[in-house]
Amino acid sequence: MKIHIADPTGLCFGVRRAISKLEGELLRSQAVFSLGSPIHNPQETERLSKMGLIVVESAEEVPPGSVAFIRAHGVTPFQAEILRKKCSKIVDGTCPFVKTAQKRAKDLSSEGYFVVISGDRHHPEVRGIMGYVEGEVAVISSDEDIPGNLKGRKCGILSQTTQKVGSFVALVSSFVKVSPEIKVYNTICKATLARQDSVCKLASKVDGMIILGGRNSANTKKLAEISMDVGVSTLWVEHAGEIDRGWLQNKEDIGIAAGGSTPEWLIKELIQKLNMM
Ligand code: F3S
Repeated sequence: MKIHIADPTGLCFGVRRAISKLEGELLRSQAVFSLGSPIHNPQETERLSKMGLIVVESAEEVPPGSVAFIRAHGVTPFQAEILRKKCSKIVDGTCPFVKTAQKRAKDLSSEGYFVVISGDRHHPEVRGIMGYVEGEVAVISSDEDIPGNLKGRKCGILSQTTQKVGSFVALVSSFVKVSPEIKVYNTICKATLARQDSVCKLASKVDGMIILGGRNSANTKKLAEISMDVGVSTLWVEHAGEIDRGWLQNKEDIGIAAGGSTPEWLIKELIQKLNMM
């Protein structure tokens, strides 16, 4: 059995940057309160919790006078304001690509566009971006779900940073029939574009693809979907312990790709386990 690793893969620039800021603060402060899990990976979150990380779900839950951490997904301006008023320090890990998407959404709404975000309305990054829109906003996950009230409106379209390229292109094309004026910002981040491309290329050369990453990681899910779209047998696991010996049967070339929130030690562990098997 030969193992091939997608290139690039694993931790993206934005998550790496945010986690390094968080780790630096955890060495200085006894406790750091993060709004939501700082990384979509339970094993990595557990490691950081042992260093003093406390995960809360909202700015209201952060105790006054404490140190707060904003993860790579960013927060709404409303949440940021609450933190500014009550915390002794804020460590802002918002990814610069997410900041660009937030600014684009703000600009489009101030120019009078009905803001359309291609993505998942329940994802924290998308909820954060929505907070920057002062006018009307719709989040659309598929080009088949365009609401009727957008017909005839001038629409400003952008995407969740981890959106699948194909989904974004399909949505933008559909708006040609819906809207007389469209302004589009491609806010899919470079790391996502490169990782989706590397999975697509590798998946077409191997007998099976293992996608490594947290179950709640949007970008890992997209990588698994892309691999399946290529038509190769695809296994999505959170850690090496989930590898199924039966799935490996009769496969000579195995490809590995990891989501943008998967730390290197989990990739190494997976390769080690496969070599042992
Ligand atoms: Fe940033 Fe893209 Fe990663 S938006 S957090 S570099 S997936």
